[in-house]
Amino acid sequence: MGLLEGRRAVVTGGGRGIGAATVRRFASQGASVAVLDRDGDAARAVAAEVGGVALVVDVADVDAVTEALDLAADALGGLTTVFANAGTGSLKPLHAYAEREWDRLVDVNLKGTWATIRAAVPHLLAAGGGSIVTNASVSGVYPTRGESPYAAAKAGVIALTRSTALEYGPSIRANCVSPGFVHTELNDLIVTNPAFREGIEARTPLGRLGVPEEVADVVVFLCSDLARYVTGQNLLVDGGSLLPNNQVDPVLTDLLRFLSG
Ligand SMILES: NC(=O)c1ccc[n+]([C@@H]2O[C@H](COP(=O)([O-])OP(=O)(O)OC[C@H]3O[C@@H](n4cnc5c(N)ncnc54)[C@H](O)[C@@H]3O)[C@@H](O)[C@H]2O)c1
Repeated sequence: MGLLEGRRAVVTGGGRGIGAATVRRFASQGASVAVLDRDGDAARAVAAEVGGVALVVDVADVDAVTEALDLAADALGGLTTVFANAGTGSLKPLHAYAEREWDRLVDVNLKGTWATIRAAVPHLLAAGGGSIVTNASVSGVYPTRGESPYAAAKAGVIALTRSTALEYGPSIRANCVSPGFVHTELNDLIVTNPAFREGIEARTPLGRLGVPEEVADVVVFLCSDLARYVTGQNLLVDGGSLLPNNQVDPVLTDLLRFLSG
């Protein structure tokens, strides 16, 4: 018996990376799944693997998201479970972002998450309740250099998720995952560079980058009855990378090395 037996789930950005890994985990735990992605070929390929439904949608298009979730609900016989995962990033100094780039990053990451929750709520309520998980980032917890629109949007995703938990409990639980460095196409450039990669590993208590399945497993937990008393939380899936205190940790690390000869 799987953890999500009988659940009817939607995953946005399910064609690749963390979303695709979650589609596979959802299916292996007994859920039927609709894979939403702006990349139709990717969505169809992942949906075919799990006997699911593929829908092509850009999550920044609010009406298209509503239509896609309605179609997903029709195809699956209702909805109980949503992973609002689709997101995209960029890297440049704050003043170098054009208004168009700002709008796109905020529209996909924040408005797209809102659009997904907004379209999902009536279906989850009609099903007698359910679970929503959003995908934020460690960059939404502690703002980062070069990612100002992304970091601001992801901080917004965390707040939006908590508003959802407040407004729709007890019927709907809403939680957030905040991945650290997980090796996907989104950050392929950084993590395939040995110098960057070693730096990340050295600063991460668990000593390595994550893989998409490690985020997917946490999403399964949050959507399952194992998390039935958990709502409004932002669960970091980052190997502990946000733990080191930037001011004190390097000093005490050196001191510990010195004292232990
Ligand atoms: N990989 C990481 O290290 C990391 C870290 C923190 C947060 N995240 C978040 O995890 C989520 C998934 O990231 P990933 O690493 O799997 O990325 P990815 O680029 O590998 O996959 C993203 C998927 O979302 C789809 N997508 C992108 N924009 C879309 C849109 N507007 N409408 C519909 N689909 C869209 C893409 O086609 C792709 O299939 C994102 O929200 C990202 O911000 C990732």
